[in-house]
Amino acid sequence: AAEPDLTGRHVVVSAGGTREPLDPVRFLGNRSSGKQGYALARTAAARGARVTLVAANASLPDPAGVDVVPVGTAVELREAMLRAAADADAVVMAAAVADFRPAAYAAGKIKKKDDQEPAPITLVRNPDILAEISADRARAGQVIVGFAAETDDVLTNGRAKLKRKGCDLLVVNEVGERKTFGSEENEAVVLGADGSETPVAHGPKEALAETVWDLVAERLG
Ligand code: C5P
Repeated sequence: AAEPDLTGRHVVVSAGGTREPLDPVRFLGNRSSGKQGYALARTAAARGARVTLVAANASLPDPAGVDVVPVGTAVELREAMLRAAADADAVVMAAAVADFRPAAYAAGKIKKKDDQEPAPITLVRNPDILAEISADRARAGQVIVGFAAETDDVLTNGRAKLKRKGCDLLVVNEVGERKTFGSEENEAVVLGADGSETPVAHGPKEALAETVWDLVAERLG
């Protein structure tokens, strides 16, 4: 059985990918399956934590003993995260959040008209939830973890992103056509704001989750 080193702790995990609606039937989305976030929630519960899982459009079964809060858009994800983070010891942002959303929502299905060019889609910026939660810590000593999918210069981009976001740990993984999204496995480097660098060998998403909780538990002391 797992070491109950997160007993008495409240941890909040976001998982899945946001969907930004254009009209009642269409959205802008991404390929995140939610598997890494769910693995984080399951492993934290097994280590004794009280877990809130803010799940964006993940079609996965609710993990036993975990409080699941379903959300759709980035704005909804932000609301749920801020509420849950208020009394959290650790926050892990594993969800793939859309950077932009359509500026307008059409109440009726957008129609195609013959002999007419398609209308352009105007986007507006979504809030950066990780940066916001890191800047306005709800609690002293709260440990905040972000995720970053990079296609190149993984470490350089990861270091810059860690600084920009202001979080304590950033899990960086390299993504490509057939890597990571929807897969059962992951391979990553966990960068610490303290300069630490923890490589995680290619393996199940549970193994990466356990390493993240090891690093979080160390920082919670
Ligand atoms: O900037 P980028 O999207 O690469 O950063 C990824 C990290 O930031 C993830 O932890 C993701 O959950 C978080 N994020 C966020 N709000 C956004 C975009 C990303 O919290 N609008």
